[in-house]
Amino acid sequence: MTGTGHASMRIDTPAGSILCDPWVNPAYFASWFPFPDNSQLDWEALGDCDYLYVSHLHRDHFDAEHLKRFVNKRATVLLPEYPTSQLEDELRDVGFTRFLKTLSDEVHELDGGLKVMIQALVSPTDGPIGDSSLWVEYDGVRLLNQNDARPADLSRFAELGHVHAHLLQFSGAIWYPMVYELPEAAKTAFGKQKRDRQFDRTFRYIDDLKASWVFPIAGPPCFLDEELWRFNDIFGEEGNIFPDQSEFVKEYPGSNGVVLLPGSVATLTADSCETAHPTDLEAFFANKESHLKAYRERQRAVIEREKASWAHPEIDVLAGMKAQIEPLLDESVYLAKGVGGPVRFDLTDPGGEVVESILVDFPGKEVRHAADEKVRYRFKTQRRLIEHLLYVGEGDWVNSLFLSCRFSAARIGQYNEFVYAFFKCLSEERLQYAEGWYESQRPDAEDIVMGGWKFQRRCAHLKADLTRFGIVDGGTLTCQLHGWKWDLASGRCLTSVGHEIRSEPAPQR
Ligand code: FES
Repeated sequence: MTGTGHASMRIDTPAGSILCDPWVNPAYFASWFPFPDNSQLDWEALGDCDYLYVSHLHRDHFDAEHLKRFVNKRATVLLPEYPTSQLEDELRDVGFTRFLKTLSDEVHELDGGLKVMIQALVSPTDGPIGDSSLWVEYDGVRLLNQNDARPADLSRFAELGHVHAHLLQFSGAIWYPMVYELPEAAKTAFGKQKRDRQFDRTFRYIDDLKASWVFPIAGPPCFLDEELWRFNDIFGEEGNIFPDQSEFVKEYPGSNGVVLLPGSVATLTADSCETAHPTDLEAFFANKESHLKAYRERQRAVIEREKASWAHPEIDVLAGMKAQIEPLLDESVYLAKGVGGPVRFDLTDPGGEVVESILVDFPGKEVRHAADEKVRYRFKTQRRLIEHLLYVGEGDWVNSLFLSCRFSAARIGQYNEFVYAFFKCLSEERLQYAEGWYESQRPDAEDIVMGGWKFQRRCAHLKADLTRFGIVDGGTLTCQLHGWKWDLASGRCLTSVGHEIRSEPAPQR
């Protein structure tokens, strides 16, 4: 295994090579950069791989520009089984044509005795609706690239035999608590809790799997823009949620931790792991601050160029948010009810002055200028960021604005998962999926009656609300979201294998 930075690695076996999650270009409005700098690696050679695995669509795992330029388009993509085709579509857009569509939790045998299994997680809170882990076996040596996925347990992997290498996330990848408008002492206390919880969760997974070797990966990012520099864990703050690999090794009670720098190579057998590093590990982490400062200088022009592309003053932000969000508010049952109150966006000029306040009124199902009403959440961010989101038609504000940490937030009451789930689902397909997912978690998932038939309310394809999208014609149900059809007498899907629907003739009155 060659470490290629952040969550990325290249796995080489005599039966072929797998490149995982290569990420080099800054993500989320130029706020996140890979740490340590991996841009100097020989990406032409690394990208000449047999298989590509992109775990999910977060931009620190899916780097379109890098994939387009450096990764061999003859590589076969090992595709997780996600409910939507967005990952496949975006990979096709950058030029990949060969796909192995894996089935979640099933082992697939590739040529030459290489075996892979991908476990796909599909709840609205997993990644941008989807996160996954890759298990690989060759010649009795097994590794699990758990990445930043959070399965309930690791039993499906453990039952396939002892795992030799376990690679998993240990550091922060979120905006909490740094962006919250809280007294510094409270922020430090919450940050410390978060940092401890991240380590505890990682240690629990490690203890569950009991692999021979443990590799801390998938973070932390580093922040090279002056505005975000304070988020780097170089100031000795106990409330910083972005500890690096050397901190992991200090905290980790086990002695089988292995750190990979970009360019480190770990050679794994059933009973050994030998690692060669491109530079002395201890010296590298001791000089972290100077590494970051030099990296910042190299990236200054990149950040400036990105910043110059955000402003689109011709965009009417209120009209744009209304057009994108109001139809979704109208369709939203679970998410809107879960948010339960208005959410305000205070938009500032680059100097920090609020120039416009826009309210997303979840109960009133409306987007309008804010008066002085009480709100559940308040976000403050530069207007030009929202202009850019509207300009590019971004359907996931978590995987763009919120992960950028280029905002501040205040809230009344507890954390509300639904707020972020909603702003991750700013397209009809995603919203319907998330709504259906929450609905299906209810023990008594609802049925509806239409055209003389009683059937499940949520489409068996991607969970559209069939009270809105369903049409019954004789014994056939059509869901208009993607045009799939079902035979209501048998429940059989006429468009695809599987996807049966629960249906029966409606009771006579
Ligand atoms: S959600 Fe795709 S056809 Fe219904």
